[in-house]
Amino acid sequence: AGPCDIYSSGGTPCIAAHSTTRALYSSYSGALYQVKRGSDNTTTNISPLSAGGVANAAAQDTFCARTTCLITIIYDQSGRGNHLKQAPPGGFNGPESNGYDNLAGAIGAPVTLNGQKAYGVFVSPGTGYSNNAASGTAVNDEPEGMYAVLDGTHYNGACCFDYGNAEVSSTDTGNGHMEAIYFGDNTVWGSGAGSGPWVMADLENGLFSGLSASNNAGDPSISYRFLTAIVKGTSNLWAIRGGNSASGSLSTYYSGARPNVSGYNPMSKEGAIILGIGGDNSNGAQGTFYEGVMTSGYPSDATENSVQANIVAAKYATTSLTSGSALTVGSSISLRATTSGYTTRYLAHTGTTVNTQVVTSSSATTLKQQASWTVRTGLANSGCYSFESVDTPGSYLRHNNFVLLLNANDSTKQFNEDATFCPQSGLNGQGLSIRSWNYPTRWFRHYTNLLYIASNGGVHTFDAATSFNDDVSWIVSTGFA
Ligand code: AHR
Ligand code: AHR
Ligand code: AHR
Repeated sequence: AGPCDIYSSGGTPCIAAHSTTRALYSSYSGALYQVKRGSDNTTTNISPLSAGGVANAAAQDTFCARTTCLITIIYDQSGRGNHLKQAPPGGFNGPESNGYDNLAGAIGAPVTLNGQKAYGVFVSPGTGYSNNAASGTAVNDEPEGMYAVLDGTHYNGACCFDYGNAEVSSTDTGNGHMEAIYFGDNTVWGSGAGSGPWVMADLENGLFSGLSASNNAGDPSISYRFLTAIVKGTSNLWAIRGGNSASGSLSTYYSGARPNVSGYNPMSKEGAIILGIGGDNSNGAQGTFYEGVMTSGYPSDATENSVQANIVAAKYATTSLTSGSALTVGSSISLRATTSGYTTRYLAHTGTTVNTQVVTSSSATTLKQQASWTVRTGLANSGCYSFESVDTPGSYLRHNNFVLLLNANDSTKQFNEDATFCPQSGLNGQGLSIRSWNYPTRWFRHYTNLLYIASNGGVHTFDAATSFNDDVSWIVSTGFA
C-alpha cells in the first residue's frame, strides 16, 4: 500500500498527493512531475518505474542530458487535478518576470529510495509552487491532515517554507486563513525548544508551535536528514507531529486546543495549496520537499503512524550530489573557459572581484596565484566543494546577489551555503559545470569576463541563454600555483 491507500483505509482520504520521488498510491502509474529543459524549452512527464513505484529518474537524466531542467509541474496523484505549478505574485512578487516565483532546478535534491535514484524539490529563496483553485481541500473550520517528507538540514529563517492550505488570492487575508506545515528556524512569530529548526503550523500571521502564539517548549528542534512533518486541524483541535523518515516512529509535539489568540478559532481556511512560500507569496525561505499529501478529514494518530511506517519502508537515503571527473580535496586547480574566443582565459580574481583573465605558464607568479584555487570539502555540504584562494588563504569563492565574489570566510551559515558548489559533467561536453549548492538552477558563468552564478535564460542580463552551456563549462587542470 502507499500512504494514500493508508489514509483512505483510515477514512481520511488524500485530496492532494504530491511527490517527485514515488507513487503515493499502490496503483498509481501516472505522471509524478513535469520537467522543462533549457535547450529547446520542451517538457516531458516523469512517471514511476512501475505502478506504486519510484520515479523514473533515468528518464529525467536522459531528457536533461547536456542542458538544464526545471520542475514545472508537480502532479496531484489523487485524481482531483490539484497540481502544483509556478506560484503567481500575491502580497509579494517573486523574482521571475511578472512577479512569478522561480521554479526549482530538477537536480538539486537527488536521493535514493530502496536504492533507486529519484529527485526531490530543492526550494531556493525565490522558489514557490501553488494551486489557487484546488478542489476538495478543507475550507473554513473543516478538518484536514497533512504530512510532508522534507530535508531537515535544509532550511532558513525567512518566511516561509510551507506545504499546505493557504489563501486563494496569494495575499494575507487574516488570522486563520491558512493551515500549512512550516519548517525552518524563523522566530518572528512562534518558536520551540532550542535554536531550531522546528516544525510549526503556519496559520497566517503566525507560525505556531503550540497553544501559545510565542514559545512552546514542547516543540523540539528537529533536523533529521529525512524528516516527516505533520500538521492537522479540526474544530478547536490541532496537532504537530514529527519523526525521522528513515527510521522509528512519530512523536506528538502538540495536540490540543487552537491558539489562545483571536482569529484562529474557528478557522477560516481558504483551500489553496502552497509549497515553499508563505500564504502571501513571501518567498525568502528555503527547504527541500520529497513527498506530501493533504487529506479530507482529521486523520487518526494510528493512521499517521502507519503512513510513517510506509515512509520508513521506502528507505530514503542520500546519494552523490556531483557528476563528472572528481576533484581532490586539498589539491590546487585552475579552471579554463571553453567558450570559443575565450579559451585562453582562466577563472581568477582581482581583489574581491572574480573574473576571467588570460594566463599562461610564463605569466607572473601573482597572476598564476590569482588563477589558482584550493579544493576544499563543501562548507555547507560535505558532498560538494568549496574553493579557497591560493593567494588569500581563508577567502573563498562565494556568491552574493548572484555575483561571484572572493570573500573571507565569516563562518556564518549563509556564507557556508553561498560558498558551496556541486560540480557536474560539463554542460557543453567539456570539463565540469559548477552549480551552486543553495541555488541549483545557477552555475559558475563568465559573462563579459566577470563571474556570476547564472541560470539558463533567467531575468538577469548574465542569465542570457545565448552561449550558456559554453560559458558554464570549465576545463579543470592542476593549478598554476
Ligand atoms: O503566518 C506567517 C506568514 O505571515 C504567512 O505565511 C504570510 O502570509 C504572512 O506574511
Ligand atoms: O547570491 C544569492 C544570494 O544573495 C545569497 O545567497 C545571499 O547571501 C545574498 O542575499
Ligand atoms: O564572458 C565573455 C562573454 O560575455 C560570454 O561568452 C558571453 O556570454 C558574454 O557576452
